[in-house]
Amino acid sequence: MSGAAIDKLRRPLRDLRISVTDQCNFRCAYCMPKEVFGPGYAFLPKSEILTNEEIVSLVKSFARLGIEKVRLTGGEPLLRKDLVSLVERIHQTGTIKDLSLTTNGALLPRYAGALKNAGLTRINVSLDSLNEKTFKLMNGDRGNVQSVLDGIDAAKAADLKVKVNMVVQKGINDSETLPMIRYFREKSITLRFIEYMDVGNTNQWKSSEVVSAKELLNSIRSEFSFEPVDPNYRGEVAARYRYTDIPVEFGIINSITKPFCSDCNRARLSADGKLFTCLFATKGHDLKQSLRNSSSEDQMVELLAKIWSNRADRYSEERSNESSATDKIEMSYIGG
Ligand code: GTP
Ligand code: 5AD
Ligand code: SF4
Ligand code: SF4
Repeated sequence: MSGAAIDKLRRPLRDLRISVTDQCNFRCAYCMPKEVFGPGYAFLPKSEILTNEEIVSLVKSFARLGIEKVRLTGGEPLLRKDLVSLVERIHQTGTIKDLSLTTNGALLPRYAGALKNAGLTRINVSLDSLNEKTFKLMNGDRGNVQSVLDGIDAAKAADLKVKVNMVVQKGINDSETLPMIRYFREKSITLRFIEYMDVGNTNQWKSSEVVSAKELLNSIRSEFSFEPVDPNYRGEVAARYRYTDIPVEFGIINSITKPFCSDCNRARLSADGKLFTCLFATKGHDLKQSLRNSSSEDQMVELLAKIWSNRADRYSEERSNESSATDKIEMSYIGG
């Protein structure tokens, strides 16, 4: 079987986010707090992680159900040794129109050119501050601002489309939003602010630490004039804005104050081959088992269609203090 898969809320399957490793060279407190992800933390054993061959086989099955966008994530995807070859093999399937990567950027100077040659089109780089002290405070004292800026420059030089993601936490980096706006506006790079989300169980999320889209827009308005831009496609994660004086955009990912579940067409695959139909899901569907039991591509497509047709997730729209307390998967495991 092939064709479109539609879930219980009539949402198609279009976008696949693939986590290629659960490890990261940073320890951002909102994602992998170092007190939890310390030396004794049990990361996935190599034997449990999908091989490139297995991932490519799944991409082909997903493509038969309408997937056109694939985003590689982590943890930190650039820590995976055979990542460039994975990009090349996904590109060679000829089924994916938009092949992108989300990274913390520190290793980009080494890999940007090879990724572009392998068929990658876009990169989103996470950077929460230009101030060294705040940067280190947020990422668990790893790396430095310049290495990420060098990574961004390397990606631009390799002719990759680049966006920058900044998670904003009240009292920690909210005073850095305007310096970030000024810097990336000058560089003609889209900067997107992310409302701090209650993903996982380890980051001690509090609603009082969220800086809302409204607060962000008010702050930006104090210095710049801008107007809203229509979404690129239905279900786009970020609300887009354009400065009125130069052709540069910025965006806000407001999953807390204005959830976008009604158009959510994203499936998420963990590095160990579990399929999650929501970022806030508590349980995944084990695809690795079927893959390793040598089921045929047709059987896999059928299984994926069945999982998607049973999907009714809309966590961000249903969010409440009680649901924040449940046993959710970690962001570093599912890749955001
Ligand atoms: P583009 O294709 O460039 O728009 O990328 P993207 O925004 O889909 O992906 P990216 O990895 O840059 O994600 C940015 C932020 O949006 C991260 O914090 C993600 O966790 C968040 N995000 C992405 N998809 C979803 C989603 O389906 N639900 C929620 N709640 N957040 C999401
Ligand atoms: N809330 C919002 N965004 C988060 N990210 C990681 N953890 C959180 C969180 N708790 C972001 C990263 C990266 C993207 C994949 O997800 O900074 O930009
Ligand atoms: Fe690593 Fe990204 Fe998580 Fe930070 S947000 S710890 S860079 S995976
Ligand atoms: Fe999609 Fe779940 Fe995010 Fe809603 S909360 S947009 S359903 S991933």
